[in-house]
Amino acid sequence: MNSKELRRRFLDFFERSGHTIVPSSSLVPDDPSVLLTTAGMQQFKPYYAELDPEKTIHPSIGKPVGLNAASCQKSFRTSDIDEVGDERHLTFFEMLGNFSFGGYQKEKAITLAYDFLVKELGLKIAYVTVFEGKENIGVAKDEESKRIWQSLGVTDIREQGMEDVFWGPTGNAGPCGPTTEIYCTNGAGQDIEIWNIVFNQYFYPGSREELDQGVSGKKLEPLKKFGVDTGMGLERLTMISQQTDTIFETDLFEPIINALPTSFSDSQKRIFADHIRAFAFLIADGVRPSNKERGYVLRRLIRRLMAYDFVGNAGSFSNDDTIGILMDQMFRKIVDMYNDFYPELRDAEESIISEYHRENTKFRNALYDGLKELDRMSLVNAQEAFKLYESFGIPYEVIKEFGKEKTATLTRGDFEKEFAKHQEVSKAGRERKFGGHGLVLDTGELKAANEEELQIVTRLHTATHLLQAALRKVLGGGVHQAGSDITVERTRFDFTFDRKLSDGEVKQVEELINGVIKKDMRMEYKERPFQEAVRSGALYSLKETYPPVVKVYSVFDEKTGEKFSSELCGGPHVTHTGEVGEFRIAKQEAVGGGVRRIRGVVS
Ligand code: SER
Repeated sequence: MNSKELRRRFLDFFERSGHTIVPSSSLVPDDPSVLLTTAGMQQFKPYYAELDPEKTIHPSIGKPVGLNAASCQKSFRTSDIDEVGDERHLTFFEMLGNFSFGGYQKEKAITLAYDFLVKELGLKIAYVTVFEGKENIGVAKDEESKRIWQSLGVTDIREQGMEDVFWGPTGNAGPCGPTTEIYCTNGAGQDIEIWNIVFNQYFYPGSREELDQGVSGKKLEPLKKFGVDTGMGLERLTMISQQTDTIFETDLFEPIINALPTSFSDSQKRIFADHIRAFAFLIADGVRPSNKERGYVLRRLIRRLMAYDFVGNAGSFSNDDTIGILMDQMFRKIVDMYNDFYPELRDAEESIISEYHRENTKFRNALYDGLKELDRMSLVNAQEAFKLYESFGIPYEVIKEFGKEKTATLTRGDFEKEFAKHQEVSKAGRERKFGGHGLVLDTGELKAANEEELQIVTRLHTATHLLQAALRKVLGGGVHQAGSDITVERTRFDFTFDRKLSDGEVKQVEELINGVIKKDMRMEYKERPFQEAVRSGALYSLKETYPPVVKVYSVFDEKTGEKFSSELCGGPHVTHTGEVGEFRIAKQEAVGGGVRRIRGVVS
């Protein structure tokens, strides 16, 4: 069965079994505490705790998801980057998953997984794992899952601990719980974990590291709703179904692997195939290369592809552009392979190609010189590796790979320590420069001299968004922001309109705003590609030029799904409108040329 069929069969099976199919969310998550989307459950995270999945409108389907959902989710794990090159690790992968937020529990979750693999696809389960329990966090052995597996005729059931079969939380806090995992045998006779079924029974108010360390004051709290969150890598499922030895021999990778020069080692072919696909998907979701956060993740992928380009068809190291790999053909191949299910790849086809070339043109020579320098060095420790990064922009993994035995003792941990040391030095320099005086915030629009002022201007800033939305509701969509200036005393908002507001209109605007404040609606923050943000109706200024990925702040009613206000904006904002306090229009005046000015205050 080919991978396209497997994807489809999975979604059809779960749709037939009472799940709403939800499209993959972007690789750029809404949750600001995680860099990239790492699992299918991420877009549903609030449904396990505070949001009602039967009432909240899901933005990509325009209606509530209900209690059960399924998806095929684009996922990216930076934590696996050093593993890529073996038979089964990837950075980017597709995760098939079914989810329940207070709907079904263990019995049905396990039975569905069994039915899909064994009855629907005709595969064999090698063995399953269940949680052995851990007293000091108060979680007992998972006897129930064991019993359910037994009743389905599975006999090889292995008990494992926290490290293997306890999942989550992601980011700074979230749902988590014991898991049961399914292993199947691949073409090489190895048993591979393919499906992870998580029972989200708890909420942990901290990170996974804190949970493992048992940080005092943070405890697992039972979730009110029993949650199911499952994840199965499409690549691994395809390997099992096609009985190949590795994921790279499946139809998901073969066309790329087969087109690569024979001078590449197996591991280089796999890394290349992983990185080029990951690169294309990140670009399609609006990520652009930079030296920060996800932009830097992307840059690392590109630089490794560039380094491989140097060894290209020549089989030896060369900076001659004409003998490299035919990158454009590779990119187009990726787009052709995936655009049926992910049309965003076709939309981004030209950007994928041009972004690669832009980076290649800018950094090719430096990277080449750096690799030559690495060639001349005898032993590379963390300090030297960092110097290579700093002077030539070579990422750790490229140094490690191309430095071969010279880098035998170099570890990512030591490299990162060096990195952190350097950042501390430059931060200390910055703090001295400002000497603790002057403005703590000056965005051009907002000014604050200390923490206290910062809080007030933040409240006024959110009030300004509410003001614009309210003016548009009362006076019509012809109202557009023409300027805004916020100090600790007031917000001053200029907008296109040609007459004074009547007393009734002023009152209506104030009442709308104070109504939203009273409802304590959530200020939702998202980063998304500019075009997508504009299409979603977020307000933006025609005078500004925006980067490819923009920040969108929306005031959002969790109960009805209604958006009161949505704007492209750099922040900062309050998290809930209740923090704004009471809003009042203090003054209105004419600026001229069809523009009016309102001064507003909060108390
Ligand atoms: N969230 C779990 C995982 O990532 C199951 O989807 O494995």
